[in-house]
Amino acid sequence: MEKEYLDRKANSSTTKHLFGSGLLGKGDKKRNDLLKELNSFKKRDYSFSNGHILGSMCTQPHPIAKEAYISFLETNLGDPELFPGTKQIESNLIQFIKELLHAPTTATGQIVSGGTEGNITAMWIAKKLTGKKEIIIPDSAHFSFQKIASLMDMKLVAIPMTKEYTLDITKIKEKITKNTAAVVGIAGSTELGTIDPIPELSDICYDENIFCHVDAAFGGYIIPFLKELNYDVPEFDFKLDGVSTISIDAHKMGYSAIPLGALIIRDGKWFDQISVDSPYISVKKHAGILGTRSGGPVAGAYAVARYLGMDGYKKVVENCMNTTKYAEEKLDEIGLDLVIKPTMNVLGVKLSKPEKVAKKLSEYGWRVNTMNHLSCIRIVLMPQITKKIIDEFIPIFKKSCEEVGEL
Ligand SMILES: Cc1ncc(COP(=O)(O)O)c(C=O)c1O
Repeated sequence: MEKEYLDRKANSSTTKHLFGSGLLGKGDKKRNDLLKELNSFKKRDYSFSNGHILGSMCTQPHPIAKEAYISFLETNLGDPELFPGTKQIESNLIQFIKELLHAPTTATGQIVSGGTEGNITAMWIAKKLTGKKEIIIPDSAHFSFQKIASLMDMKLVAIPMTKEYTLDITKIKEKITKNTAAVVGIAGSTELGTIDPIPELSDICYDENIFCHVDAAFGGYIIPFLKELNYDVPEFDFKLDGVSTISIDAHKMGYSAIPLGALIIRDGKWFDQISVDSPYISVKKHAGILGTRSGGPVAGAYAVARYLGMDGYKKVVENCMNTTKYAEEKLDEIGLDLVIKPTMNVLGVKLSKPEKVAKKLSEYGWRVNTMNHLSCIRIVLMPQITKKIIDEFIPIFKKSCEEVGEL
């Protein structure tokens, strides 16, 4: 391999790049064979683009995200002074998300790979600020909190859910102790898209001076627009004085390419807690978990934010909610019930044999997710899911249910 590289370089009339100057042109057999091989792997994947992935909270990225992503492929935001333009895009994206979440001017943000890293970073800050190790979480919290407990030697204190599948706020005060590092609320739960009573949680945390993290990895790009569309949803963001940090993912309802999440932090000074000296690179201090990270997804998410703007995102959410309503009606027509009335574009369909139905559906080329706590399957009506796709899906869903004796 090494030898070949040197030979090719010697034969090349330009010093550009191994893969530049037509070296990998259409006549290159090795390239063609390799692309064929890659394609054969790709064919085994499910794809967002045909709408058959119905259980995922990720999405087919907006086309503008793809273009922007590719053109920033070789940038490294871990060494920002080498890439001041890309760094500026990142600052602009953080500013956009801060505005979306009504963050104060003192706030700062960290671009992360997604909800898991956002939650880890938030709990890292909470642990460093308080020197304490207990995290109070609702039973509905994402499994990233299990990782946090293991990774940072922290203890999870679980709060049961109400019959609406939200955190039971009446149980919070009794769980707060001198060891509490943080309390977590979920704005858009992984299983059913429910929203915890964040205003009440924020008040308690404010009064008791407790760090309050809101996991809005899924709901962060939905709830602000649901409010504008007059849906009855609670406040969840920095308008609430007790909220300390918020995780929000652009690679979920932000219509962007993976991996792209953000952690917004109420007080920029808290960032010092997770900063270290950084010799060898262009900045003196480095914060957060990752070192080298691509500017590609950042450029992608920024491009989507600029292309759609707040009005565009509102339209996306409106479409998703219309499709959700449509799917709800169609499920009702075939005699299936929901676990709860949906808060957002997530449907929990009650089934007695969810695993069997999901397996049957995957044999027919459709993917839905089963849930940990609940006997149901989850259908997420992401932007690429249209009413036409629901019309294709429902007869196959009905047939799958019948074949396993569910209907
Ligand atoms: C509420 C919530 N938080 C965190 C995560 C983790 O996000 P990621 O898989 O992007 O790390 C998810 C994933 O679905 C989620 O739904």
